[in-house]
Amino acid sequence: MTIVIAIDGPAAAGKGTLARRVATELNLNYLDTGLLYRATGFAVLQSNEDPSDPASALKAAQNLQPADLDNDRLRDDECAQAASKVAAIQSVRDQLLAFQRSFAQTPPAGKKGSVLDGRDIGTVVCPDADVKLFVTASVAVRAERRLKELQNRGQDVIYAQVLKEMEERDARDRDRDTAPLKPAEDAILLDTSELSIEDVIAKAVKIISEKTT
Ligand code: DC
Repeated sequence: MTIVIAIDGPAAAGKGTLARRVATELNLNYLDTGLLYRATGFAVLQSNEDPSDPASALKAAQNLQPADLDNDRLRDDECAQAASKVAAIQSVRDQLLAFQRSFAQTPPAGKKGSVLDGRDIGTVVCPDADVKLFVTASVAVRAERRLKELQNRGQDVIYAQVLKEMEERDARDRDRDTAPLKPAEDAILLDTSELSIEDVIAKAVKIISEKTT
């Protein structure tokens, strides 16, 4: 039986770090679904088109290749904002859905299952996931984490700007009509504001182990 773990939550809540560690500790295949939207947004920007334009965004999503996900520039805030814009377009989400579902259901030989992180994994992509975690933290804590990450990458940024962009992106992801950011009804909430990453991982691994054995 294939184990499927869904990890959703807003930007910089710690879900990527958590998902990667869960994948390693439990021998699961890992997909960061945000990269699909970032790579789509990046391709639109590269063509000097508008990420909010449905035709441009859909064309970019249709032409996406696995190698496009392997690009350090996708981590930039410009890509995050473009990702959040293309992600609000229904046809783009529909285009990316089959790949995500197939990734979840068909892990390579030797892996026990899959862990996917994103915004709508528990609600739309894998509604039958064995475990659904919704990882949150206050926007102030998330902006602080994001600021440190960008500064560590040598970028010249200030807290107020990072906070503003995070609030904008949260609002766009949460308030959109299609697959908005929200916990699935059967998701377990993990607030990471006051926890160390090791505490978060320990909690998550315990929850997953209890639910999958
Ligand atoms: O997880 P991330 O910050 O890399 O995601 C970038 C954007 O992509 C995010 O602002 C919203 C969108 N996204 C989405 O709509 N659904 C997902 N499953 C993953 C990401």
